[in-house]
Amino acid sequence: MKIDSVSAQQILDTRDRPTIEVTLISGETIVHASVPSGKSTGSHEAVELRDADGGVSTAIGNVECEIAALVTGRQWETPDELDAAMIALDGTPNKSRLGANAILGVSIAAQRLAAELAGVPLWRAIALRAGTTPAAPRLYLNFMNGGEHADYRLPFQEYLFVVGGKTSEAMPIAERVFKKLGERLERESRSSTSTESVEVELLQKVPMGDEGGYSPKFEELDKPFELLAALVAEHPGASIAIDAAANALRNDHGGYTLIGRDYTPDELRALYLELISKFPFHSIEDPFAETATEDFTKLTAEAGEVIIVGDDLTVTNPARIEMAREAGAITAVLIKPNQIGSVKEAIEAVQMTHANGWAAVCSHRSGETDDTFIADFAYAVGAHGIKAGGLGQKERREKYERLLEIEKEAETV
Ligand code: PGA
Ligand code: ZN
Repeated sequence: MKIDSVSAQQILDTRDRPTIEVTLISGETIVHASVPSGKSTGSHEAVELRDADGGVSTAIGNVECEIAALVTGRQWETPDELDAAMIALDGTPNKSRLGANAILGVSIAAQRLAAELAGVPLWRAIALRAGTTPAAPRLYLNFMNGGEHADYRLPFQEYLFVVGGKTSEAMPIAERVFKKLGERLERESRSSTSTESVEVELLQKVPMGDEGGYSPKFEELDKPFELLAALVAEHPGASIAIDAAANALRNDHGGYTLIGRDYTPDELRALYLELISKFPFHSIEDPFAETATEDFTKLTAEAGEVIIVGDDLTVTNPARIEMAREAGAITAVLIKPNQIGSVKEAIEAVQMTHANGWAAVCSHRSGETDDTFIADFAYAVGAHGIKAGGLGQKERREKYERLLEIEKEAETV
C-alpha cells in the first residue's frame, strides 16, 4: 500500500464540537475517516489533542506535517505496520504529542484504503489480517440516556435494550421497541399533568439525550427498568443492560449519589444485585469508579450470569486490561478505538479480552460522526456486542445500517 497524499480537515460531531476528518489518496483511490469524541472519559485514555479554544487545528497540523511526511512516498505492507510507525513517531505512552485523534484518523483511513485496494469489504480485510472470526454482534441499543449525556435526568448514563441474532432480524425488533417506548414515555409525561392542551403536549415531548435515546425524568430509580422489562418480555432472548458510568456518580465522601440519595460502595453493590434479581439483566458497565477495582471484583463474584463490563476502568488499554484480569474485576471489556488511539492496538485489546475468556463490546462515543468504522470493526472481530446509541439520531442509525449492509456482503463473499 502506497499513500500519495494525506490531508485533514475540521468537521463537527453530533454535539457540534470540532473533530478531525482525514483523507488519504493512493493513485485513483480516495478514502475518508473521522474520529469520534467522548464526554464521560476515563483518566487513563489516550490524549485527544485540542487547542485552548477546543478546536483541533494543532491535531490537523500534526496529520498534515509530521504524520504525512512519515506515511507518504513509501510502501506499507499492512496498516498495522503504519500504525506502529505512527506510535513510534509520537513517542509518548499516551499519544500526547501528536494526539490520539490525529493518529486514529489516519489509522482508520489506512484500514479503509487497504481494504479498497484489496477489493474486499472493510470488515473482511480486518478479520483476514487479525485472524479473527467475523460474526454479527449483539445490539446494545441505548434507548434511555441519563447521566452526563442528559443532564442527569436519569441517574445512570445508559439504559440499553440488548438483542442478538442476525442484524436483519434484530433491527425490526429494535425499531418496534424504540417506537413503543417513545409512545409509553409520552403517555407517562401526559398523565403526570392535569392539563391536556395541545401546547402542554408539545412541550412535554420526551427529550433526547446525546446518544439518540429518550431522556425522560423519573424520580423512581426502578421506573426505567420497569418500562424496559415490559418491552423485553415481548421479545424472547432480549435483555437489559446499563452503563452506570459511575465515575460521574461519585460524591465527596467516598460514595456515590443517585437521585439525591447517597450510597456507600457496598450499598451500591447491593442495589445492583437487587436490580439484577428483579429485572432481566444482561450486563452492567462501569458499576463503580475507575479507581474502585476491588468493588468491581466483589460485584463480579456475586453477579452470576450477568456480565460486568469495564470501560473507564480499562480504557481499551492492554496494561489496564491485564490489571483487571489479575484482580478478577470484570468479565467483559468495552472497546473504543479512540481510547487507545490506533486500530492496531484496539485489535490487540480485543485479542487480550478474548484470551481472558471475556466478552468484547465495541463502542461508538457520545460525540459521533457519520463514520461507520465501528460497525465493520465489531463484525470483523466477532464481538459479543456493539454499542452504537439509540435510534433517534442519524449518526447512530448509520452504524446499525452499516451492520445490515455487512450482513448482505457476508452472504455474497
Ligand atoms: P462517552 O460515553 O463516549 O461520553 O465516553 C460512552 C460510554 O461511557 O460508554
Ligand atoms: Zn461507558
